[in-house]
Amino acid sequence: RHPGWPARPGPLLVSAGSVELRPPRLRDATAWSGLRLRDRVYLQRWEPTTVGDWRDRNAVLAWPAQWSALRGLARRGQALPFAISVDGRFAGQLTVGNVVRGALRSAWIGYWVAEDVSGGGIATAAVALAVDHCFGPAGLHRLEATVRPENSPSVRVLEKAGFRREGLFERYLDVEGAWRDHYVYGLTVEDRPEGVAAALVRSGRARYA
Ligand code: ACO
Repeated sequence: RHPGWPARPGPLLVSAGSVELRPPRLRDATAWSGLRLRDRVYLQRWEPTTVGDWRDRNAVLAWPAQWSALRGLARRGQALPFAISVDGRFAGQLTVGNVVRGALRSAWIGYWVAEDVSGGGIATAAVALAVDHCFGPAGLHRLEATVRPENSPSVRVLEKAGFRREGLFERYLDVEGAWRDHYVYGLTVEDRPEGVAAALVRSGRARYA
């Protein structure tokens, strides 16, 4: 058992609905694949280049291997992989990855949300729940996120959650077949003593259930 896993942070209410994080399930296959195939154009622009065809990699039959890989990382304490649910429906994923303990106690965070429910505060609420969970039960001290400067919605999500822009990683990640610059954003426990969800609620961006 690793601190903070398994967990179900939430809910937090935003305009799009009631946002919760939970471990991914084998039976998410149909919902996951349905969204990933439908939203290909919207997602592929921002996701790391991977080998193989999008349709094969995001088919219903591709989920068991992905789910099992995520579950293995979580069991080894290397990741906290969450499904984002909105009003009980699968709406995207948020992954806390490369969990390093010891004197660093740090990890990265990444996420995607279905296009038809985007713009309603879901990703911001999901990030808030994840950060508070990581800085609380999971015992981490720092979270980091890398985002392409062109990805305005994701930059907004990080800034609404209180992340600080720390720099620019040049030619950092292979996205859409080329090396793309990424901003690096960071947040440590000291930046948000009251918690990120509480800060969102205080600013009127979210409500407690
Ligand atoms: N230009 C500027 N701002 C925009 C634009 C735009 N074209 N489109 C939306 N926004 C704003 C919204 O208005 C909102 O800000 P506001 O609350 O100040 O009005 C903000 O961007 C989005 O906030 P949320 O509603 O909380 O986020 P959402 O649930 O829509 O999810 C996300 C955002 C995850 C980036 C989604 O668009 C997505 O899944 N995109 C594709 C995959 C992706 O880019 N993932 C992130 C990769 S980077 C990383 O993981 C660290």
